[in-house]
Amino acid sequence: MFFKTSPHRTIFTERLILRAPSFLDVKDIFEFCSDPASSKYADWYPHKNLGETRAFVTWLKRKGSYNSYTWAIEHREDKKVIGTISIVESDYSGKILTVGYTLSKAYWHNGYATEALKELVNYLLKELFVQRVQAKVMPENEASCRLLERVGFKNEGLLKKGAFCRTGCVDVYIYSFTR
Ligand SMILES: CC(C)(COP(=O)(O)OP(=O)(O)OC[C@H]1O[C@@H](n2cnc3c(N)ncnc32)[C@H](O)[C@@H]1OP(=O)(O)O)[C@@H](O)C(=O)NCCC(=O)NCCS
Repeated sequence: MFFKTSPHRTIFTERLILRAPSFLDVKDIFEFCSDPASSKYADWYPHKNLGETRAFVTWLKRKGSYNSYTWAIEHREDKKVIGTISIVESDYSGKILTVGYTLSKAYWHNGYATEALKELVNYLLKELFVQRVQAKVMPENEASCRLLERVGFKNEGLLKKGAFCRTGCVDVYIYSFTR
């Protein structure tokens, strides 16, 4: 399904706000997008300057009108964007969605990604009536595997050459959360 107008809304959790990214967030987003730890398992390279991050935010904002969508993860108390969480892909029906996420290293190991992903899955299943939320993860990305399992995703096995990263197509675990 290609969303004609974005059906996505701001999502509030106890410590976070998941909302549309803005150009005012460029400095915060640069902080984690310039850190090699954020893109170790991704198909993109660390940002070298604020201009790259600005272009990235422009792309994120445009992306919202297609079959994907990215929320900025704002830390309520610090009033700072500490990560992003996205629908990276949708099937034609809009009932099967693939998600992805990145959190600033300074905020790892505090349960923020768990909090954001739990609430996003809840929103997708209960409000957008999605049937299946899935994620593809490289087996060596243990933090991401742990996160998905903590939220209740099931590991359905290994997809051979199932995702594209910087080194080419790689084997990935496929995780799902179904209605
Ligand atoms: C994947 C990623 C978001 C996971 O971040 P994280 O900090 O491990 O996840 P959380 O924010 O949910 O924190 C969970 C950790 O905090 C701890 N924690 C502390 N308080 C917690 C709470 N209230 N609730 C849940 N966990 C809590 C957990 O025990 C857990 O620790 P552990 O990882 O040592 O077991 C992060 O590693 C990342 O951004 N990586 C780079 C991007 C990436 O690889 N994305 C995924 C591509 S598939």
